[in-house]
Amino acid sequence: MNDGTSRESIDPETTPEALVERFGRDLINDFDLDDPAFNDRFDETLNFMVRKCPVVHSTVGKGYYLINTQDDVRAAAQNWQTFSSAKGYMPNRPDGLPYLMPEESDPPIHTRWRRVLNPHLSPKVCASYEQAVRDDANELIDRFIERGECEFISEFGALLPGWAFFKNVLGLPIDDLAMLVNGVEEGTFAPDLDARAKHFAGVFEYLETHLKWRSTQPSRGDLIDTILAGVTYDDGTIAPWEHKVSILVDLTFGGIATTTFVMGSAIHHLATHPDQRQLLIDQPVLVENAIEEYARFFPPVVALGRTATSDVEVSGTSIKEGEFVMLAYACASRDPRHMDEPEKIDVRREGIPHSTFGVGPHRCIGSNLARVELTATLEEWLKRIPEFRVKSGGEPTYVTGFLRSMRSLHLEW
Ligand code: HEM
Repeated sequence: MNDGTSRESIDPETTPEALVERFGRDLINDFDLDDPAFNDRFDETLNFMVRKCPVVHSTVGKGYYLINTQDDVRAAAQNWQTFSSAKGYMPNRPDGLPYLMPEESDPPIHTRWRRVLNPHLSPKVCASYEQAVRDDANELIDRFIERGECEFISEFGALLPGWAFFKNVLGLPIDDLAMLVNGVEEGTFAPDLDARAKHFAGVFEYLETHLKWRSTQPSRGDLIDTILAGVTYDDGTIAPWEHKVSILVDLTFGGIATTTFVMGSAIHHLATHPDQRQLLIDQPVLVENAIEEYARFFPPVVALGRTATSDVEVSGTSIKEGEFVMLAYACASRDPRHMDEPEKIDVRREGIPHSTFGVGPHRCIGSNLARVELTATLEEWLKRIPEFRVKSGGEPTYVTGFLRSMRSLHLEW
């Protein structure tokens, strides 16, 4: 039980009764990322937890903790010696699922891989893809602009990130994107844990086949060739084949399962706030800041996990060696101890201290590419479709677990 921490001051808002009445469950001792109520009341729950519940506990499966404040999340994310990634990033990990590199590894193994992978996704390299990504955004818009309406997720948001990553970075055919997006979505959100494992296995198999084929082809000097060349670990062993496959799988997960949510949420926000739309049209210089604010407020990665390597205390809660701990990046990005009015979207906010892309050694390798995709989306969309709204009955639908995803959003203009 977690009573020691968060209820010390006997806050009437955090008694079990008050929590059950407000959220349908005792968030502090009985939290569940997969609870449909968390999906439905996402913003309210995040805002409440970061203010009132520095650490909450879940009893689902083997159980896990969620760390919510920005200071605690940053400290834990940087302290990889105590909060290890090597036993996985998802709670109640399905048996038999291969570990993903670099995400599910610690330094020095992790460092070896990041050192060779980072240059392929540097700010300069990603900036060189900008025109191609803008062209792709326009090609997608061409397909539906005359119709006066679209379903944003399937016709734009789920396509552009995959196109950007597959065409420019991986050299993978975009024809197979829909199958991979579905595999990653179902692997993350399918209610049945065994079904999740099966979907992930399909994605692994596809990407391994591609990697094998590329190993028979002349070198292109690209990211795939860097993965194939591999790394040597500090003890002199050479990274095995399965590590290479998992690098490609991890990059693909990151490349297609995240940016869509920020895109969809930003476009939904603009569809429902004409003044904000006009502000970005009148002052395009604000787009860069708007992207940080939208990334802060609409986090696709709700929380990612670590395993405690020793007994440790976080904001008064004792966590035992071997217990699973989630870093709630989504809560940390709304911490009122670090910003004014965190519940408000303000694209003029200065110095946005968000943790949407993570913190510490595992900080997102794809953030530069994600920013290019988001810039192309906002700028090209507003140029081509400056007036748009949500179609009657077409409000967005969501699914939430340790990731959050938008399933559909119907727009018209
Ligand atoms: C808005 C879009 C994105 C968000 C919000 C996001 C978020 C994150 C976060 C929070 C982490 C840290 C994980 C941790 O602490 O354990 C991470 C890691 C990672 N991301 Fe992203 N990501 C995005 C886009 C991308 C893209 C486009 C790619 C691929 C091109 C990518 C690939 C990865 C990979 C491979 C890691 C693991 C890095 C490591 O363990 O060293 N992500 N991402």
